[in-house]
Amino acid sequence: MKSQPRSSPPSVKRPGRSVSIVGTGSYLPERVLTNEDLSALVDTTDEWITTRTGIKTRRIAAKDEHTSDMAARAALAAMEQANVTAEEIDLILLATASPDMVFPATACFVQTKIGAKNAACLDVSAACAGFLFAVEIAQQFITSHTYNTVMVIGAEKLSSITNWTDRNTCVLFGDGAGVAILQHRSTATHGVISTHIGSNGDYNDILWMPGGGCRTPITAENAHQHLQTIHMSGKDVYKQAVTSMLDASKKALDKAGLTIEDIACVIPHQANVRIIEAIADRLKIPLDRFFINVDRYGNTSAAAVAIALDEANRSGRLKQGDFILMVVFGGGLTWASTVIEW
Ligand code: UT7
Repeated sequence: MKSQPRSSPPSVKRPGRSVSIVGTGSYLPERVLTNEDLSALVDTTDEWITTRTGIKTRRIAAKDEHTSDMAARAALAAMEQANVTAEEIDLILLATASPDMVFPATACFVQTKIGAKNAACLDVSAACAGFLFAVEIAQQFITSHTYNTVMVIGAEKLSSITNWTDRNTCVLFGDGAGVAILQHRSTATHGVISTHIGSNGDYNDILWMPGGGCRTPITAENAHQHLQTIHMSGKDVYKQAVTSMLDASKKALDKAGLTIEDIACVIPHQANVRIIEAIADRLKIPLDRFFINVDRYGNTSAAAVAIALDEANRSGRLKQGDFILMVVFGGGLTWASTVIEW
């Protein structure tokens, strides 16, 4: 297996209008919850969590720190890096499975917090795949000349929808937010090259939060049943995650006119290091081509790839001209992939 991507520039199929990622930002809450901390809560061990998931720590938001607060902190960091003012933002898309409330959209709370008074705001509900669904929507709005500047956010306070008595799920998740600002810049040649999104509602019940909606409102009678928390059939989700992310990777690469050999860095959904290893193995590329931070943050759902993109960017991992593949999977089921030129 080659450890470096192909060096000769391939013939890339670029979209009609350039859509650059002009800035990224992320925010992780201060409190670190370790595997040892969890073994005091439920019947688990550091050894089980590490070998089954690769997770060592995750961050937990403060009681009064909401999804919109984390999103706004990440947004300000991205705006600073992009040199974009709040007034310039035309649209805020916020992907989350743990909104501040059902409505208004958490994006509207972020709008007020960052002063983006000219922006239209909406939330995107595609669970862990939401950030790349939002990137696709942003790209469509920009290439159609509707908007020039779109803020795409993935933000989660999963600790608020976790059943802290269920060892099958509570060891997996964490809180945080990541942001990318997408903008048309007339001089840019780099940016989003291809996107792919997909869903399969037939498997909606292998990863869901069954209570709290109109189907099963939370009542005094069912309040003890933890219906307003994440329920997951881990093994079923695992299998679907591997096959869907492989297929989505291929679709975005084909659309871009690239092969996996051209990709300098893969930023996958951060749910389980074993899933990432399985994908690396099937794609026949070395694991060091993947950006991994699930060991530090656990699964932050819609925020995961957004945080990883920002960390890869700020750490210098992404070099100008590199082709990057982002690929995600989540409840719905949903999956998505994006190829960008950095
Ligand atoms: O973000 C959306 C996408 N999400 C994912 O992609 C997650 C996909 N699923 C997974 O990552 C894995 O399936 C898990 C990490 C959730 C579970 O790993 P697994 O290897 O599939 O374990 P399992 O569910 O088959 O459980 C094996 C055993 C069970 O015991 P028995 O029935 O064999 O006696 C569980 O009860 O491990 C037990 N177990 C635990 N033991 C210690 C489950 N959770 C724990 C725990 N500590 N925290």
